[in-house]
Amino acid sequence: MRVGIPGSGLMGRRLGTLFARVRHEVVFSYVRSQKKLEGLARAGTPGEVARHVAALLLAVHWSRMDDVLKQAGDLSKKVIVSCSLPMNESNADLVVGHISSGVEELSRMLPKARVVSAFNTLPSEVLFEVYEAKRKASPECGVLGR
Ligand SMILES: NC(=O)c1ccc[n+]([C@@H]2O[C@H](COP(=O)([O-])OP(=O)(O)OC[C@H]3O[C@@H](n4cnc5c(N)ncnc54)[C@H](OP(=O)(O)O)[C@@H]3O)[C@@H](O)[C@H]2O)c1
Repeated sequence: MRVGIPGSGLMGRRLGTLFARVRHEVVFSYVRSQKKLEGLARAGTPGEVARHVAALLLAVHWSRMDDVLKQAGDLSKKVIVSCSLPMNESNADLVVGHISSGVEELSRMLPKARVVSAFNTLPSEVLFEVYEAKRKASPECGVLGR
């Protein structure tokens, strides 16, 4: 599957690497410094990427979400996976909760997309270890999308 990832920081870059290991085609976008995208296999603007992928992994800070979605454009029928925690800019408090959630809010913002929340309870530091442990436990089937 072709997966677009706005955000190539701690989560986006690592999850993108793991997706690519199980042969998904990963395209990155949305960074402050375009230089950061230069070393990555494929990159584009959020709008270009969104048009050409089946799924998007939103791996940016919650405060950037409106801007990312605006730049991405029409996301009807796309699968939208969000690892974003709905935190304020200082990451000290939730800005959505406790009777709703970030993904419910995103679903309201994207009524024509299929929105799910994933990976947001895992610190980025353990993503590779989790992948390795799962791969060792069941080497014949792989993980993440098979
Ligand atoms: N880190 C974790 O362990 C963890 C765990 C669970 C959930 N999450 C969630 O995952 C999401 C991403 O977290 P992260 O730790 O991967 O963040 P991060 O390392 O700061 O990466 C954020 C990405 O967004 C890009 N970006 C583009 N425009 C930006 C702007 N104006 N301001 C800030 N960033 C901008 C950054 O670009 P540059 O590369 O150019 O800076 C970077 O690629 C967050 O919503 C967070 O709540 C994180």
